[in-house]
Amino acid sequence: MWGLFHSKPASPAARLSCTGAAVSVTVCVALWAQGGEPGPFQLGKGVPGPMARGWLPAGQVLAAEECSRCHVAEGKKWRGGFRPTAFSNAFVQAEYRLAWAKAKREGTDDGLPASCVACHSPLQYLQGKVPAPEEPLSADEGITCDFCHSTWGFSGEVPGQFNWIVRKGGNRFGPEIQSALGRPVRFTKSPELCGTCHNERGPGGQWVKSVYNEWKESPYSKTGEKGCLDCHKQFTREFVNGMIPRSVELRLEPPASPPRPGAELEVSVELANAAAGHRIPAGSSELRQLWLHVEAVDGAGRAYPLSVRPKGFEGEEHTIGSDARAYFDLQELAGGQAAGGLPRDGDGIAPGDRVFRLPMFDRQGRMTAFEWNAYALGTDYRLGPQETVTERYAFQVPSDLPPGPLAITATLRYRRAPPALWAFLRLPAGENPEITVGEARWQGHAGSTAHAPPSPAGARKKTLDMGARAGTWENKIP
Ligand code: HEC
Ligand code: HEC
Ligand code: HEC
Ligand code: HEC
Ligand code: HEC
Repeated sequence: MWGLFHSKPASPAARLSCTGAAVSVTVCVALWAQGGEPGPFQLGKGVPGPMARGWLPAGQVLAAEECSRCHVAEGKKWRGGFRPTAFSNAFVQAEYRLAWAKAKREGTDDGLPASCVACHSPLQYLQGKVPAPEEPLSADEGITCDFCHSTWGFSGEVPGQFNWIVRKGGNRFGPEIQSALGRPVRFTKSPELCGTCHNERGPGGQWVKSVYNEWKESPYSKTGEKGCLDCHKQFTREFVNGMIPRSVELRLEPPASPPRPGAELEVSVELANAAAGHRIPAGSSELRQLWLHVEAVDGAGRAYPLSVRPKGFEGEEHTIGSDARAYFDLQELAGGQAAGGLPRDGDGIAPGDRVFRLPMFDRQGRMTAFEWNAYALGTDYRLGPQETVTERYAFQVPSDLPPGPLAITATLRYRRAPPALWAFLRLPAGENPEITVGEARWQGHAGSTAHAPPSPAGARKKTLDMGARAGTWENKIP
């Protein structure tokens, strides 16, 4: 029975890819000739994504349910994650409708919506299905089994913009297959498979998503230490949300002298991207928000927000919390007028907070939340892999600051998308939570030179080497 889907391996060295009537000898030789590395497109081996719209007859595609009859555990894991709904979820559908509106507005064909389908639901794309916004999503499976296990390489120099090469029917590729001549082919397990979708080009030609490129440039790739799957072990939203709080280490350098009423002090915060194999916020950087809020609280419980000291780089205004408005294109695409856009920050991002982002701009140079409507990129101010960044915050100590305890707290927070955008698109409440990535605290005394001893208990040694500064502090890594 299983021969319907896989050919029985003739020998261990010829598993899956190179046996059976469905696969020709050319395939085996070609795989070997390229040393198992994904190579340029050649006829007979499959078709790269950009040319493959409608190329796969429906009969050649198996539903996840079919695969899962035998691969029960894999089916269960897949169903419990975000992959089956990568196209049908409310957020993607809301933007998909806007992408159709853009195509209509500009009088272009359906190439733009088709590109969404190519990455978010590749098997539909391969069967030529690019549903109109009002069409029901019949049999959509998002990123499904038969897609990943039928791809074996990518075309061109760099994986990205759905340039995976997929083969018709026949045998499915496993994580480790041997070509007929014994050379291993490991595309399914490689970061390159991920890169075909996690690298994306905007309409202006720039990389608007570049997770793969960032990883490729990182120490993790250069030392061969960690690929995507070494860190990304599960594909559920909960697992990703659980990785975020461990990704950045924070260290707060307390003021050099005790806070005195009327004085100006400086507090600096060091942030290290210690755990992500790419920049953060990663991936959908046009949407994600990551910001550092620093505040002092006096003995009476009064809070004083501190403001980041600008570094003076070009475009820095996009990286400092303010009451600026943005996303004017959203309202245009949604059918209304550009009635003043939406607040860019707010809802927790205070004026003066440092915001780590890669701003993107539409054709008119206005900041957009849609990478597929981005024609230019601003300064990339995100945290690179294993990179440490220092931010200095100014504290104008109020002249009526009461003597007594004074705490300074630096908090790094993350969320999936700007809340104003979330509300505008009427997305499900509660699915855009604010996640605390890290927190560092200093507890001292105002108007006094009393030095409390440092208390390193419970924090990480590496980030705790603060020297003998006034006050106590802790570095919480949730
Ligand atoms: C009728 C049962 C059956 C169905 C249906 C089935 N498979 Fe398999 N599959 C098997 C068996 C048996 C093996 C061989 C297991 C082995 O060699 O460890 C296998 C092997 C594989 C492997 C290789 C695993 C490895 O360790 O290298 C992959 C990948 C795979 N199947 C994917 C799929 C996908 C994708 C589908 C649906 C398109 C599918 N299978 C449908 C029975 C099935
Ligand atoms: C996004 C791509 C992707 C999708 C979708 C996907 N897989 Fe896989 N699959 C992989 C990768 C990568 C591995 C290797 C995982 C590893 O070794 O950690 C794998 C491993 C496997 C294996 C071998 C397991 C083993 O222990 O050797 C089987 C069988 C399999 N997948 C079947 C399925 C089935 C069935 C589905 C759908 C229900 C599915 N896969 C969906 C990428 C995918
Ligand atoms: C066919 C294209 C495609 C491939 C191949 C692919 N992904 Fe994705 N991935 C997506 C899309 C589309 C989403 C967004 C899904 C959503 O928001 O529902 C996504 C989401 C994710 C997320 C983030 C989920 C979140 O909570 O924001 C992670 C992590 C991820 N993928 C990792 C990987 C890794 C690792 C690989 C390689 C093993 C991979 N992906 C292969 C298209 C792909
Ligand atoms: C060294 C570990 C590591 C490696 C290697 C790694 N990642 Fe990640 N990744 C992380 C961590 C940690 C996060 C959570 C970071 C955050 O957003 O604060 C993350 C987040 C992500 C996200 C979600 C970002 C978001 O906010 O929506 C995507 C997508 C992703 N990774 C894809 C990939 C892909 C694709 C690769 C391989 C090219 C890869 N990662 C390699 C650790 C890693
Ligand atoms: C080259 C592949 C690719 C193309 C083309 C693409 N996307 Fe995506 N998209 C992704 C990946 C990968 C992610 C996940 C990134 C992450 O989680 O960090 C994603 C994430 C998203 C998200 C955020 C989902 C979330 O859960 O936060 C939305 C919305 C979205 N895409 C809509 C679209 C629309 C609409 C189009 C077409 C105009 C499109 N995408 C085209 C690969 C692509």
